[in-house]
Parts: sequence; structure tokens; C-alpha cells
Amino acid sequence: MQIFKYVKKLQERVAEQRKAGKQIGFVPTMGALHQGHIALIERAAAENDYVVCSIFVNPTQFNDASDLVKYPRTINADLAKLYAAGCSAVFVPTVAEIYPKNAAPTPVVDFEQLMEVLEGVHRPGHFDGMVQVVHRLLDIARPDNLYMGQKDYQQQAIIRHMLKAIASEIKLTTCKTVRENDGLAMSSRNTRLTEAQRAIAPTIHATLTSVAEKIGEQSIQDIEAWATEQLTKKGFVVDYFSIVDGESLQSIESFEAADTVVVATAAYLGDIRLIDNLIL
Ligand code: PAJ
Repeated sequence: MQIFKYVKKLQERVAEQRKAGKQIGFVPTMGALHQGHIALIERAAAENDYVVCSIFVNPTQFNDASDLVKYPRTINADLAKLYAAGCSAVFVPTVAEIYPKNAAPTPVVDFEQLMEVLEGVHRPGHFDGMVQVVHRLLDIARPDNLYMGQKDYQQQAIIRHMLKAIASEIKLTTCKTVRENDGLAMSSRNTRLTEAQRAIAPTIHATLTSVAEKIGEQSIQDIEAWATEQLTKKGFVVDYFSIVDGESLQSIESFEAADTVVVATAAYLGDIRLIDNLIL
């Protein structure tokens, strides 16, 4: 496994691989890697000849400056996990390397309300920064295949839309959410939960799961209100608990109104914001 700090060196190495007819897989991350990230690397390693993982805590996607400062950084442990998972190259750039003055501009894409709902309401500017960095990283790595997690459902939906809008040949594979035994979705932020908060945190997954049992019994609005109440009673401060069309991410009137229905939530435990979703 090789470690790259510079765009030029990584590009040279990837170009060599491509010339040799190898398939390139790419997994963008912000580090503090856990089994959720590693599952993406393993999938990429199974489906490609050469796997690039980027570790870059992207400042432009943090709408909350203190969240950026508190973001966990565990580079040595990350490298060991990537090596064990079959990663070929790790890209660990500086901010200046990712955002040079002469970088190609992010393409202007009509995101058709995808950014205005769910996370977009509560984290202004977050998706603009996320699209900016993913576009830049794809432009650097030029992979055949891109791997992202369902855990960040809206994020992968936005990137899928962008790839289509710019007629990219990169194929996006969304991998299912990896969970702890009690259902809590793995997240770098989980390490910041106190013992008491950690004990309550699985309620998110339990509540998402109960939605499936209420289909047909109650209206969508009633289910959303019930779920918000369940979480609030346990001590969460809920940003949203929404049942949406899995493609447009807009609210739906009935479960029959969309081909894919997704239930997504974001809620705080103390100052830690957790997100999760289920495809119903
Ligand atoms: P990060 O939060 O580090 O996540 C990197 C990738 O891992 C994302 O595609 C995310 O959806 C996936 N992931 C995280 N937790 C997961 C879990 N429990 N199960 C499965 N996949 C999981 O998402 C980002 O970084 C950034 O926004 C990024 C795309 C790297 C751009 O900066």
C-alpha cells in the first residue's frame, strides 16, 4: 500500500495502473475509519484491481466550525485498517493540495431540490462543500468505480445525480449501512458519546425499524410525529424524522406514491448529531 500526499504523484501512479488495463476503485473518506468505511474498501477491493482511499477532513463541508475542530483524527490506526482491507493507495492531501488557486471549477448542476431538504435544511452549505470536494477528488483519482455508504443517503443521492448530470462514466455503488450489534449505525462521531448516551443511541435504529410496522396503520404525518415523540422522550433533540421519496427526497403523501421510500432522521444527543435511515 502506497501513501500519497501530492496530487501529481497519485495521478501518475493511477495512470500507470490504467495503462496496464487495471480497474480503479475509489473510496473517499474523512478518516477515523471504522468497519463501515472498511466495508467500502473491501467491496472496492473485491471489484477492482487497484483501490484508492482518500482521507481528507474537508473544511468546506463543515457548517459548524467546532465540529471541524472536534473531528477525530486517527491516521496511524486508519492506515493499518486500510492495509488489512486490501487498499492499494491512500491519498492524504493538505487543504492547499485539494484547493489550489487553479483548480477546475465545480460544475454547475441543477440539483432539483435534493439539497434543500433533510440535511440541507439543518446544515446550510454542507452539500455544496461535499460536492466540491467529491468532484475534485474524482477529477484527481479518475476511478472507474466509486463507493459510498447508504448511511449518508442524501449524500450518495446528490453524487449520483451529479454524475448523471455531468454524463460521467464513473459508476457509483452504494453499500449498505454497517451497524453495531445493537443497531446503532457506525459513525466516527459515536466515539464522542458518553456511556449513558451510547446506551440510548440505538433507539434511533429501533424507531426507524418500527416505522415499517406502522405502514398502512397510520398516516405518514402521524408516523413521523410518533417517531419524533419516541426519540424526544428518550432525550434526543430531533432535527427531522422524515419519510420521503428515495429518489427525489421529497415528502410523500402515501407509501404507494414512490418506487423507493426512505425514512431518514437526524437527532442530537447532547452536542453530538447522529443520522440514520432505512429503505422501507
Ligand atoms: P465519511 O463520513 O468519512 O464517510 C466516508 C464514506 O463512508 C461515506 O460514503 C459514508 O456514507 C460511508 N460510511 C460512513 N459510515 C458508514 C456505515 N456505518 N456504513 C456504511 N458506510 C458508511 O461522508 C464523508 O466522509 C464525506 O462527506 C466525503 C464523502 C468523504 C466527502 O468529504
